[in-house]
Formats: sequence, C-alpha cells, structure tokens
Amino acid sequence: MSGAVDAPPLVLGVLVSGSGSNLQAVLDAVSRGELRAKVAVVISNVASAKGLDRARAARVPAVALDHKAYGSREAFDEAVVEALRAHGVTCVVLAGFMRIVTPVLLDAFPDRVVNIHPSLLPAFPGVDAQGQALRYGVRVAGCTVHFVDAGTDTGPIIAQAVVPVNEEDDVEALRARILAREHELLPAVLGWIAEDRVHVERDVAANARPRVRISPGRRPAS
Ligand code: GRF
Repeated sequence: MSGAVDAPPLVLGVLVSGSGSNLQAVLDAVSRGELRAKVAVVISNVASAKGLDRARAARVPAVALDHKAYGSREAFDEAVVEALRAHGVTCVVLAGFMRIVTPVLLDAFPDRVVNIHPSLLPAFPGVDAQGQALRYGVRVAGCTVHFVDAGTDTGPIIAQAVVPVNEEDDVEALRARILAREHELLPAVLGWIAEDRVHVERDVAANARPRVRISPGRRPAS
C-alpha cells in the first residue's frame, strides 16, 4: 500500500538573515534521516550571513538577495518567490529572517510559510522577545513555530516548547536555553508537515481565528 512513507520529500526553502543555527538543525535532521525533506535553497538578504556558509557547506544552493536593491518590499518578495520557485520549493521556512514578508510571498505559498519565534506567542512578538520576557518577569518562556500571516508573529500556532526562566538569567542565557529547544521543535514540525499532518482550519462563518489541527501520526507497520 502506498502512503506517506512513499511520498516525495518535502522541498524546503529556508530564509535566513544571520547565524542560521535553526537551518543547521534542519540540515542535520535531514542528513540523519530523521526529517523526510530536502533543503533545496537557502536565501538571505544579508550576503555575509553565516547561514549562507552553512548552506554551502551542506552543498545546498545559497542565494543572497540584497533587499536594498529593490524598490519595495513587494519587489524584493517577488525576487524571493522567483528563486524559491526555481528550486521547486513547496514549503518556506523563515529561520531568523529579519524582514517583514508581504502577501507576494504568502499568496505564492498558502499555509506553507513557517516561522520560528523565540517566545510563547502571543506573548512578546517582534524583536528582542527574550528581553521582553525577562523585563516582564515571566517564569516560563519558550519558542513557537507558526504559519505566517500578514501580521508580525500573529499566524496560526503549530507547536510550542517551554523552558524555565531562572532567577539569574540574562538575555543571553535565556536566548541559549530557548534556542536549544528551537533546534528540536522546528525539525519536528517540518516532519509533521512532510507527513501532511498539519492543516489550518478556518471557520469563516463563525469569524473565528484560523487554528491548526495536527492529525495523529501513522503507526509503524506491525
Ligand atoms: C531564533 O531565535 C529564531 O527564533 C528567531 O531568530 C533566531 C534565529 O537564530 N526568529 P538562528 O539564525 O537560527 O541561529
């Protein structure tokens, strides 16, 4: 019987602006055979981003697109979409991508643009999420993987992971504790998407917020 096991791997395009440690976690999960996906291209708006070096080291096409060379966010996103399409991408991952994306990208990949954010959304969206959490005085923090919508860190939540906030934490300590969980959560979520288990439910009539339903995994054949 054919099924998810025989399905082609998920074709990922990963957008980064900096270190790319989440990209590395995805590349590692793929190379260990834990994530049935292929990273087809890595795109950065920062030519010197370490994430591009990580892509090259993994023999993944690395594309630098300088957003300052484009007249508008939409024009930049058109170039991004073109590069993603040229590599056959079906799912886009924003992994430390420090640009606001427009409907040009979102409409090209409906419910297939995923972001990872270092807070338990809807708390502390935007920049310096860890600093926001410390200043607020929360006792737990964490990370969220969500589908991207037109807002900033507002899209339907797929999964979250929690870490404690310790009395002596500074931003760097909390950042590192959260990041370790990000590196587990992001590949796990992409694995669920690869198995087509992640769906956005919209109840337009009820004017309800779209929410994600995750269907159960396949049991191993007995
Ligand atoms: C991560 O904390 C991620 O949640 C946020 O940006 C950071 C990117 O880190 N969106 P890296 O580039 O993956 O190391």
